[in-house]
Amino acid sequence: MIAIIGGSGLARLAGLAHQRREIVRTPYGDPSGPLTFGELENVPIAFLARHGYGHTIAPHEINYRANVWALKSAGVEGIVSVATVGGIRADFGPGVLVAPDQIIDYTWGRRSTYFEGSENPVRHVDFTDPYDARLRRRLLDAARAESIDLVDGGTYGCTQGPRLETTAEIRRLERDGCDLVGMTGMPEAALAREQDLPYAAVAVVVNHAAGKGDSENGISLEAIGPVMDQAMARVRALLAAFVR
Ligand code: HPA
Repeated sequence: MIAIIGGSGLARLAGLAHQRREIVRTPYGDPSGPLTFGELENVPIAFLARHGYGHTIAPHEINYRANVWALKSAGVEGIVSVATVGGIRADFGPGVLVAPDQIIDYTWGRRSTYFEGSENPVRHVDFTDPYDARLRRRLLDAARAESIDLVDGGTYGCTQGPRLETTAEIRRLERDGCDLVGMTGMPEAALAREQDLPYAAVAVVVNHAAGKGDSENGISLEAIGPVMDQAMARVRALLAAFVR
């Protein structure tokens, strides 16, 4: 069973049949909300709204450890993350969908490992390729089968938020090699790796990053909503094809 973690604009999955919700407690505290189990295209899946079902949990307040632990303990075999991002690369404008293949982590102060304390001795997990190659391939194949444009690869820079970045910060991320910027990709991806859970992401570009393109003089937050709604319709179609 695959789990989908939905971000902004995807707090629930329309078309999920036979839904039931389950509250899961973990040694790390409470996940963002109950897990939703149901069938998408007659295939059982699990769903979790990363920011809570009412979108009340900010990126730096999300209990990533509890979320990933809850999914693992529910028996899921992989996680597909959906997350909105800003586009740094010129051709990553609003509405573009990307399956990133690399990450740079700029977050701080987040609980980002399960390995701490004497009862959880440290293990240094390999994170050379942060996203699972097979899960990425399945997403890309599903997109192709549905004629949905999904860009193969890109480096996701994860900032702390919740504020958006400055122009200089985006220039720095660009020099570092980032193509996309978001706030929730880490430590989620690393925690999934620590739990041996294959993890892949669909990044949904909803704005040009600060100082780029039509965000040259500021990011229009009003413009994001309609772009997000339009893009999430394609993401839903992609997820349906993916589970099928
Ligand atoms: N920066 C960081 N996170 C984001 C952005 C952005 O421009 N857009 C959507 N999530």
